[in-house]
Amino acid sequence: KYEQRIILITGCLMGLFLFAILYNVFSRKIDVPACTPFSTNYEKPQVKKVDSLRYEIYAIAHMWTFEPSDISVPAGSTVDLYLTSTDVVHGFDIARKDINLMAVPGGVTKKTIHFDEPGVYHVVCHEYCGAGHQNMMGDIKVT
Ligand code: CUA
Repeated sequence: KYEQRIILITGCLMGLFLFAILYNVFSRKIDVPACTPFSTNYEKPQVKKVDSLRYEIYAIAHMWTFEPSDISVPAGSTVDLYLTSTDVVHGFDIARKDINLMAVPGGVTKKTIHFDEPGVYHVVCHEYCGAGHQNMMGDIKVT
């Protein structure tokens, strides 16, 4: 009897979490980052200009840096960020942007980001990844 109740409560909680995610995705239009398997379509680390206000950034996280470490795009741009890792799980947190992604080996995390305000946006790794974790950072310059 006791076990049945625990299983029921757990099931309800799982349902609630799933509902919360789906509710956020569909009703509040919150963009959930996509994660796809790594494929050879992933290009080398680079900032690629699609047109004047549209960029693609291919970023790689590895112990203990990001590539490219210095990224620069003009204000008003829309950026498709493709993020992966070549060793362990790293984080990719863009300060002042409410963006918090994970760089997973074997997977590519994609997120579309709008940079309207000019400034320097610091990027830090927020996933503990070894002895150099605290030194793992980069900048996105919006000019
Ligand atoms: Cu990379 Cu912590």
